[in-house]
Amino acid sequence: MAAANAQQFLDRMLSLGLARVSEAAAHASARLIGRGDEKAADQAAVNAMRDQLNMLDIKGVVVIGEGERDEAPMLYIGEEVGTGNGPEVDIALDPLEGTTLTAKDMPNALTVIAMAPRGTLLHAPDVYMDKLAIGPGLPKDVVSLDMSPTERIVELAKAKKCRPTDLMVCVLERPRHEDLVAEVRATGAAIRLITDGDVAGVIHCAESDITGIDMYMGSGGAPEGVLAASALKCMGGQMWGRLLFRNDDERGRAAKAGITDLNRIYSRDELVTADVIFAATGVTNGSIVRGVRREPNFIETETILMRSKTGSVRRMVYRNPIR
Ligand code: FBP
Repeated sequence: MAAANAQQFLDRMLSLGLARVSEAAAHASARLIGRGDEKAADQAAVNAMRDQLNMLDIKGVVVIGEGERDEAPMLYIGEEVGTGNGPEVDIALDPLEGTTLTAKDMPNALTVIAMAPRGTLLHAPDVYMDKLAIGPGLPKDVVSLDMSPTERIVELAKAKKCRPTDLMVCVLERPRHEDLVAEVRATGAAIRLITDGDVAGVIHCAESDITGIDMYMGSGGAPEGVLAASALKCMGGQMWGRLLFRNDDERGRAAKAGITDLNRIYSRDELVTADVIFAATGVTNGSIVRGVRREPNFIETETILMRSKTGSVRRMVYRNPIR
């Protein structure tokens, strides 16, 4: 019992530490909002996230990060992070989810990090993932990746006791989604197109009363899929993902990550197999959290911090003098 309490306490303290990590990345990228320089904004977030992460008392390994070791000098997949004193954990991160959104000062750019016991986050290779997500309170498996978009709309409308025309689906605006968009619109359902940022897109399903989004569909980055599943595991909601491969190089990446069944559909709890802590800080304004606010002498951020073990969702505003 005492050991369990100690672990709980550790989780709580670590979760606050994780919020500091995402805050630090948002602070660093703030001065690059709207400056048209995606790379500089990303680099600032990466540097700050890494520095802050290395102060945490964890024995962490980055499993979702900036890329393979040879293509990313920092926060690469396999990098050991933290002080080395503390629990063995997997870290999934995206120091700036929405680099273009930040460069253009468009909504929903976030800094994102998730932490779970070692070996419990899917080591998703940097390929696309077909994603499907809905919010909490719906029957298990009411929709699936094997259904057509039309079938998903019909089944979700039945479960929500509404008409297809009452539903809003969020989709990344990409040429590859033109057929998907046409099919969804033909059912009568509405579409919220986003130009980037499908972690936020998926999370929007968990708070449909605020965001107006009932379902997320379409392909985006597989690493972002694991981050989104971490968030939904904390907030409630169902999600499925299937890796998509365009060539042998991508299949090779999967093999390197230990993935053998290339057609497997992963449920939320197969993407993230144990309790997870998730933190995201707003960089630009969004419906989940507000973006960074800069005043002459202060900088203010809003962070959402969640633990799946307790289902707790905490929103924190951090105001700090600019030095
Ligand atoms: P970046 O912040 O790395 O630019 O990613 C933004 C993003 O929109 C993700 O949210 C999404 O999963 C992915 O890019 C989609 O990739 P693509 O632009 O190739 O369709």
